[in-house]
Amino acid sequence: MSGKTNSNNLLIKGLILFIIVCGQSAVNAKEGMWIPATLKAHEKDMKSLGLQIPVDILYNENGTGLNNAVVLFGRGCTGEIISPQGLILTNHHCGYGSVQGLSTTENDYFANGFFAQSQKDELPVAGLTVTFIRRMENVTAAILDGIADTMKDAGRDSLIAKRTRATENEFKEKTHMDAMIKPYFDGNQYWVAIAETYRDIRLVGFPPNGIGAFGGDVENWIWPRHTGDFSMFRVYAGADNKPADYSKDNKPYRTEQYFKINASGYKENDFTMVYGFPGTTVENISSFELKQVYSITDPIAIAARTKKLDVWTKHMGWSRETFLKYTSKRAGVANGWKKWQGEVEGLKINDATGKKQKFEAAFQKWADTAKSYPYAKTLLSEIKRLAEHVDALITQDQYNKEAALAIELIAQAAAMEKMITCFRQNFSDKELQDTLTKLVNVMAGFYKNYDAPTDKDIFITLMDMYVKNSGDWLPEYYKTQYDNHRKDMSIWAEDVYGNSLLVSKDKLAAFAAKAKKEDSAQLINDAAWQLYNAMNVQRKMQISPVLKYYNSEMRYLNRLYTKAQIAMNKSKTYFPDANLTLRVAYGQVKGLDPDGKAPYSYQTTLGEVIALDDTTSDIFRVPKKLKELYSKKDFGRWAVNGTVPVAFTASNHTSGGNSGSPVLNAKGELIGTNFDRAYEGTMSDYYFDPNRCRNISVDIRYTLFVVEKFGGAGWLIDEMNIVKSSK
Ligand code: ARG
Ligand code: GLU
Repeated sequence: MSGKTNSNNLLIKGLILFIIVCGQSAVNAKEGMWIPATLKAHEKDMKSLGLQIPVDILYNENGTGLNNAVVLFGRGCTGEIISPQGLILTNHHCGYGSVQGLSTTENDYFANGFFAQSQKDELPVAGLTVTFIRRMENVTAAILDGIADTMKDAGRDSLIAKRTRATENEFKEKTHMDAMIKPYFDGNQYWVAIAETYRDIRLVGFPPNGIGAFGGDVENWIWPRHTGDFSMFRVYAGADNKPADYSKDNKPYRTEQYFKINASGYKENDFTMVYGFPGTTVENISSFELKQVYSITDPIAIAARTKKLDVWTKHMGWSRETFLKYTSKRAGVANGWKKWQGEVEGLKINDATGKKQKFEAAFQKWADTAKSYPYAKTLLSEIKRLAEHVDALITQDQYNKEAALAIELIAQAAAMEKMITCFRQNFSDKELQDTLTKLVNVMAGFYKNYDAPTDKDIFITLMDMYVKNSGDWLPEYYKTQYDNHRKDMSIWAEDVYGNSLLVSKDKLAAFAAKAKKEDSAQLINDAAWQLYNAMNVQRKMQISPVLKYYNSEMRYLNRLYTKAQIAMNKSKTYFPDANLTLRVAYGQVKGLDPDGKAPYSYQTTLGEVIALDDTTSDIFRVPKKLKELYSKKDFGRWAVNGTVPVAFTASNHTSGGNSGSPVLNAKGELIGTNFDRAYEGTMSDYYFDPNRCRNISVDIRYTLFVVEKFGGAGWLIDEMNIVKSSK
């Protein structure tokens, strides 16, 4: 009897605990990337989750908000200002391209790192820009006034384009700054961003790959994670503190809006925010379009890239030269390959389609009687019909891109088009030869990182995939060649790579140097050109026009569908899909427990990095100096329990473009730099699951430890404002 009561008590206690734990995660984690100028509407919610400052600090109309401390870094990353002298913090992988241009065999910053020891040492990066968003304004009325929702023909687009240009010009004149208008909510809203782009940006600090890219592609998209993925730059300005072309007389950009750094850390469930530029999300599409993602485009890309990566990895292992040529290309191909696998798995595990279908049934019921939205009734059936109509086209388009054009020789043959047109000009032989030679020289960048034997193996694998999957779409030229080479890919490849001029720069250059008018046939009959051209003609004539029409129809339907969903679902606050504009996401520091079996901690440490050290591996070799600092426990102010925190996870809704974004605590102080998402949650571009979606950040204490102790650049820390929590 008493035993039974006890177990009943336990059961009840367990149940209460269950409710608390599950209830909490359900209530607390949030999907959404909000426009800073709309945060007032979220202030109550954010405060109930732990925000301790007015949202005005993040953004306000007086121009003093922290939006002035967030920059679009380059073309697709985010950075944050962390000192009154324009010091920028971003990711290592965001600075990578800039450093590639500055690094030489004598000064190999990837191997050794780079830390300026004074402002004089900072290295200008040609072409790099950062953009500040000073203000945002809802301009929907100016753009859409008098245009009916269901106005559809091309007149709508051109009218909107005209109004957009005129409104941008008004803002430019008024503010003497840039003004950019973009559509939000699939074209139901328009916002202008008043922006300033600085173009004298200099490299300040860059850890070696052994820290900044530690774990490489193996740990990419993976939690737990051990990468010190950060780098530092500085904004320089003219004498008036405004954007200026590079000049040695430019001065560090002066500002009062920069992030204070909190080095006291955080605990699980602490409130956090990510302030940055997420690139693309597609949250409100129908189940029919979602199906195209996980059943057509993702699987084809994954299958083709699996083959490509196998071949590349083999060749890269055989030769160091090939390794160096393909390492950066491989990282790019592998990045999408892994993300999409996580996406397909995540969408399946969550039954995202089932959930969408359920929603669509409810939507249809609502739409059937929604008098103010007469167009809603037929939306889903039209979307379905349209989507299914292009399944075959989308499939072939993806094989074209991920199989045929993934063969470098075929993709590169596009460059032969210009050479061929030269033969049609009225050139003398000399003029012809000079022009052709110039065109060949433009391809130097391609040849520097091209290995024909590797590409020939890619041809054997991917052409097989292309031929066998294209069905009726296979261009006539491919059919004949396939048959002529006894349906044997190796024989075909032998012929193509043995004879094409394009396989080597020397061959092509020799042809150019001696070319005469009558030699044009050599180019036109070149197998690389024939392969490229046959497919390109088909794409241009049969695929692209239909897809263009499809996309514009779908844009129209999706605009209405999004509008109707919002009208139907009054209790839900919708956020506009990411479009590479400034956003705030909020969530909490959280570990990850994807299968409910064994949760991962929300944090990793330097001790774990050292434990992973492998001196025989390119990506897990810990730099000697870091090991020395660890064994001497020389951690300075950045130690926590005898180690240094390295990375942490939180439940903020982020996407590509959020790399480098400031991760803030409840007071708006910087605690880390965002750089990735966990594999289990990469489907968040389509569907956000609070239990599986995690953003991954470098802990600011690891960044500061590396700058000070590894890089010996304590002078940078002196210009920052480092606070301790008052908790
Ligand atoms: N996955 C991150 C992103 O999408 C980081 C990519 C760079 N790192 C790498 N190992 N390839 O951009
Ligand atoms: N690494 C990504 C970037 O470069 C961020 C990760 C993500 O997609 O969330 O923007």
